[in-house]
Amino acid sequence: MQIEVLPIAGLHFLPYLEDKLVIVIDVLRATSTMVTALANGCQAIVPVLTPEEAIEKRLTIPSSLLGGERNAVMIEGFDLGNSPFDYVPEKVGGKRVIMTTTNGTRAIRSAVKAPIVWMCSFLNMQSIVLAAMRQLEKNSQLQGIVVFCAGTEDRFDIPDTLCAGMFIDALGYNVELNDLGEVARLLYQCSENELENKIRSSVHGRKLISLGFEQDVVYCSTPNILPIIPALENGEIVWFSEQ
Ligand code: MLT
Repeated sequence: MQIEVLPIAGLHFLPYLEDKLVIVIDVLRATSTMVTALANGCQAIVPVLTPEEAIEKRLTIPSSLLGGERNAVMIEGFDLGNSPFDYVPEKVGGKRVIMTTTNGTRAIRSAVKAPIVWMCSFLNMQSIVLAAMRQLEKNSQLQGIVVFCAGTEDRFDIPDTLCAGMFIDALGYNVELNDLGEVARLLYQCSENELENKIRSSVHGRKLISLGFEQDVVYCSTPNILPIIPALENGEIVWFSEQ
């Protein structure tokens, strides 16, 4: 099975996606927050590119909420930031959230040509791995996996690469990787016992801690606590359930 790992959101040249399963990863914090929101009863998340697009979209979705960040803090006038702890059942239960983040929602939107797009984080890793194995087994149209690491402000980042490495490692050795895939697997294999430390000391980890989001960094570094697969369907991210 072929797996290609991409380093950042918004690349100009994307691989052919029409026959691929795409896994989007933004550990700090967009995909971790999306998994948490759905676990807490959020009906759907609508990923958009800009705060202006979010405000316009809200006019078409009654009683929806606006969520997201710029420079890691909540956007003025929005209902929620990008901390998973903002997305509690009392706020998001039964609601649609229109969300824009610096890198995460950009990576998701650039994957729309793929037939299957799932949001991955450490929190839901096991569910993603098992479901990816099943999809590739039963869906003969799929010719491989593309992992979109969102990165940080157009730069490669360690948290997403570690998460991609954990995903690849869990799939076993019968995989054909691009160079970044090899690096991601090696990085994960030599850091698996110190995931949280590596994530804390990354550029974005340090930035979030300095802004008072240490709890977010610790939470987003925790593997396998939410058995949920957020999937992009008709422009919205919803809880994927296998038939
Ligand atoms: C992003 O999409 O760039 C991130 O999720 C930023 C953040 O930590 O809020």
